[in-house]
Amino acid sequence: MSGVLVTGGTGRTGKTLVQELRNAGVRARAASRNPAAADPDAIRFDWRDPITYGPALDGMDRVFLLPPVESVDPLPLVEPFLRQVQRAGVQRLVMLGSAIVLPNAPSAVEMAAQVQARPGGVVLRASGFMQNFLRPHPLAEHIHRLGEIRTAAGDGELGWVDARDVAAVAAALLADLGADARSDYLITGPHGMGYPQAAQIITARTGRQVRVEHITEEDQIAAYRASGMPTEFAAALAAVERGIKEGREDQVSTAVLELTGRPPRSFADFVTDHAYEWKR
Ligand SMILES: NC(=O)c1ccc[n+]([C@@H]2O[C@H](COP(=O)([O-])OP(=O)(O)OC[C@H]3O[C@@H](n4cnc5c(N)ncnc54)[C@H](OP(=O)(O)O)[C@@H]3O)[C@@H](O)[C@H]2O)c1
Repeated sequence: MSGVLVTGGTGRTGKTLVQELRNAGVRARAASRNPAAADPDAIRFDWRDPITYGPALDGMDRVFLLPPVESVDPLPLVEPFLRQVQRAGVQRLVMLGSAIVLPNAPSAVEMAAQVQARPGGVVLRASGFMQNFLRPHPLAEHIHRLGEIRTAAGDGELGWVDARDVAAVAAALLADLGADARSDYLITGPHGMGYPQAAQIITARTGRQVRVEHITEEDQIAAYRASGMPTEFAAALAAVERGIKEGREDQVSTAVLELTGRPPRSFADFVTDHAYEWKR
């Protein structure tokens, strides 16, 4: 038996990846804490319950690894899983990582190194997801309720990427074991974009007036906390905005084109695809 275990298989990236793989005729097992009852190839998987690792890996020769979300210290949970991946003889392991290294989260760097050290280990360093502009992300909630983007990132630019393109890249790497793969890819959209430009594009494409409210890092931490994020994670995300403001995260790559054969979606196209989101 062979196939791809997709952890986070019901999330934004994982769900699209499962669909892409199945469309390509590849077996994809969608793993999450709440597997869809209607999906015969869904399985319960919980990072906090190692008993679920073995059954999820059983018979799978490829893995898409979505580390525990909203954690600044994922390695203690991922390390035992990686040992089981090794024992299961997995031949390709693609981890969704981030282009931005969260401050105070050294274990994410170590985790990426451990994945890359494995034969067939690939880390996707994804830029900010355009899907953060969709609810329930706090950024999107503010736009929806108040027509406002509240940011501590100033006019700093980021190579925003559509999560559907991240899934397409993962699918290209996981569908065919014969496909060449490097151990590291920076995954971005077609160009850098700041929040003021994002607001203009949403207004131009949907008619919804969106303005940018520049706030301090402290105010951003409070806002993330209020949305239910764990304190450490809220602080780390807010600190990332400082890096964006200072221009440290402004980078783009051609990996989507290289791996999928088509260019990454632009933010304008993303907004058009989700125009319903900004309707009053
Ligand atoms: N947002 C960004 O801008 C951005 C940028 C770069 C990289 N990333 C990376 O992208 C990742 C998030 O990807 P996404 O947006 O596709 O995910 P998502 O939509 O937030 O979905 C998370 C998935 O993980 C599952 N999950 C949550 N807790 C779990 C647990 N304890 N055990 C097992 N499964 C669990 C969820 O299903 P259940 O709830 O059913 O378990 C769901 O399938 C993060 O790791 C982040 O570092 C995000």
